[in-house]
Amino acid sequence: MINDIVLQKGFVDVPVDSHIDMVAEIQRMKKEKNAVLLVHYYQLPEIQDIADYLGDSLGLSRNAAETDADMIVFAGVHFMAETAKILNQDKKVILPDLNAGCSLADSCQPGQFGEFVKANPDHIVMSYINCSSEIKALSDIICTSSNAEKLVQSLPGDQKIIFAPDRNLGAYINRITGRNMLLWDGYCQVHEVFSLEKLMNLKAENPDAKVIAHPECKALVLTIADYIGSTTALLKFTEKDQSKKYIVVTESGILHEMRKNNQDKIFIPAPVDEENCACSDCEYMKLNTLKKLYLCMKYELPEITMDENLRQRAEKPIRRMLEMSNQLGI
Ligand code: 13P
Ligand code: SF4
Repeated sequence: MINDIVLQKGFVDVPVDSHIDMVAEIQRMKKEKNAVLLVHYYQLPEIQDIADYLGDSLGLSRNAAETDADMIVFAGVHFMAETAKILNQDKKVILPDLNAGCSLADSCQPGQFGEFVKANPDHIVMSYINCSSEIKALSDIICTSSNAEKLVQSLPGDQKIIFAPDRNLGAYINRITGRNMLLWDGYCQVHEVFSLEKLMNLKAENPDAKVIAHPECKALVLTIADYIGSTTALLKFTEKDQSKKYIVVTESGILHEMRKNNQDKIFIPAPVDEENCACSDCEYMKLNTLKKLYLCMKYELPEITMDENLRQRAEKPIRRMLEMSNQLGI
């Protein structure tokens, strides 16, 4: 019955007794099942607070590669849980809601991308980790927003590179490295909608605030940023920097950890183009709720499964990223 519900809905949807303390139960099941709970910064605060490891895409893949737990519970989106499975053939990997996709990953489909790669045979393919296992299998190396710049710089200067799927991150890396990577035209629907005009007005109203932005944002938005970095880099910046106020131009989930770690500072979420919309929330990340997480751990469903041949092909470029990042001291 539970299996049928998961097949239909993508998550376990059964009532939970209101007397159950779901947080305590999740903690208990972690021990009982030797499970590790990996959580991305964009998850709901109550899920971030019970993580065994809370981090960005690079930190999460490193943890997934190194864990000795029997089961990985991934509170993030599908491509992240899939990456954990690619690195852990023999472990059970579960995700609270299989509908937790990613607009950026969806903007790069394997058929069209395969044609693009074939049409440029003298290029190597670097793909941002925000892509499906099929795209990873067509890639030579994976990167994240934490290591993309250094990985690109470590490649010979005359090496032609296809960068996919994020056009904004690719263009940003081109600008700071002086490379001319061929970019796939994909984008993240959350980072694409920040409004430059509203951001400039907000900055004018808060002249003491620093603008900190994720490189998935559009080039024009990045031009007014005081600091640009991955989720973890933004967080670390706010911990070391002396300012007392920041306008944060990325998914709003990161504000929770920023506020927790810097209680004397003010963090303002950046405004988006659309009126009356919580667009700086990633709708996919927010599909995972405490109830879905509890039920997912209880029933060990939904589980990420993958064709073994595809898994092996997708594993190579991820391992290459992890090895090169270690060598480069990232
Ligand atoms: P990082 O975790 O690498 O900062 O990426 C942000 C993101 O959009 C994840 O989906
Ligand atoms: Fe994908 Fe953007 Fe959501 Fe990250 S924030 S999971 S890139 S849609």
